[in-house]
Amino acid sequence: MTTPLIGPPLGILAELTHRCPLQCGYCSNPVELLKANWELGTKAWIDTFEQAADLGILQVHLSGGEPTLRKDLDEIIACLSQRGVYTNLITAAVTLTLDKIAGYAGAGLDHVQVSFQGARPETTELVGNYKNAHKKKRQAATWVRELGLPLTINAPIHKLNIQEVPEYVDLALELGAERLEIANVQYYGWAYLNRAALLPDYDSVMRQVDYVEKIREELTGILNIDFVTPDYYADYPKPCMGGWASDAFMVTPEGLALPCHAAQSITTLSFDKVTDKPLKDIWETSEAFNRYRGFDWMPEPCRSCERKEIDFGGCRCQAFAMTGDAAATDPTCIKSPHHATLRDLPPAEPIRKRVMSKMPVSA
Ligand code: SF4
Ligand code: FES
Repeated sequence: MTTPLIGPPLGILAELTHRCPLQCGYCSNPVELLKANWELGTKAWIDTFEQAADLGILQVHLSGGEPTLRKDLDEIIACLSQRGVYTNLITAAVTLTLDKIAGYAGAGLDHVQVSFQGARPETTELVGNYKNAHKKKRQAATWVRELGLPLTINAPIHKLNIQEVPEYVDLALELGAERLEIANVQYYGWAYLNRAALLPDYDSVMRQVDYVEKIREELTGILNIDFVTPDYYADYPKPCMGGWASDAFMVTPEGLALPCHAAQSITTLSFDKVTDKPLKDIWETSEAFNRYRGFDWMPEPCRSCERKEIDFGGCRCQAFAMTGDAAATDPTCIKSPHHATLRDLPPAEPIRKRVMSKMPVSA
């Protein structure tokens, strides 16, 4: 297999910690979470970000877990800001204080994304299993706007809150957000284990799609609405990561460089650590990064498909979760031999650690 030409990476998703006050059943962190004492220290993160800036990285998404639980977040933001890298803080916001946000803004933070587990207070509390979460998030979002920072509201959508999409739009407008991200939950990791509790029915999904198309047009120039579609009900898969190791990657709390946030679920891959190798070498030569880069790895029907430069064969993590083969055609594709059985998967046992006992597990 030839190694495809590799341009420089443009973005990093930095998972600074797996510690989190919420317990959402669709969490994109790995099923095996890391303890705090395995996290990279301040010096290692700053060294990684300095190398990233040298490589030409334009933006870093500071995520978790809950990144604001790191006491060195101001220092990390300041380092990136001084190197001219755009910083986006992705937070659940329930542990934020005005002092903390003002400190991040002072260090040069460019943008804040606050997740709301529901548009209604009772849904936010139920899904995240955190008392008064909604009120705290609203307060934090208000502080963000008062400090003059642009705000995105992230709405992870599943069976329990799909009816609340119009209320999410109202909430985003009320809080002065620039962007609303309506992100249908993607089914790998925790969400795959909990799919029986989370996967919405076809009619609800279609109502949501119609509504989002209509309101997006009505609110053009007022609110940007990003829509991550529910590909279990689509004919073709999403272009996951814009292609494997194409222009972005992520770093886990202990420093593993991954081609996407769920790549550790592919148990046939091994990953390099940013403390063991220069970032440039990892980006260009990592076996895991090169495994599904470009088009040469593709089997049929992807290899000769006219859509391969649109969706890059879909999602490797989803293919592995459903077929045991990460190189298989993504089963959400109508051309996959597994497509017909996509929604016939046996109900999973709910995983109580991350799905609250109050959460209904059947339709
Ligand atoms: Fe995409 Fe492969 Fe399906 Fe073609 S066959 S649409 S490239 S997933
Ligand atoms: Fe890993 Fe899609 S989440 S390739």
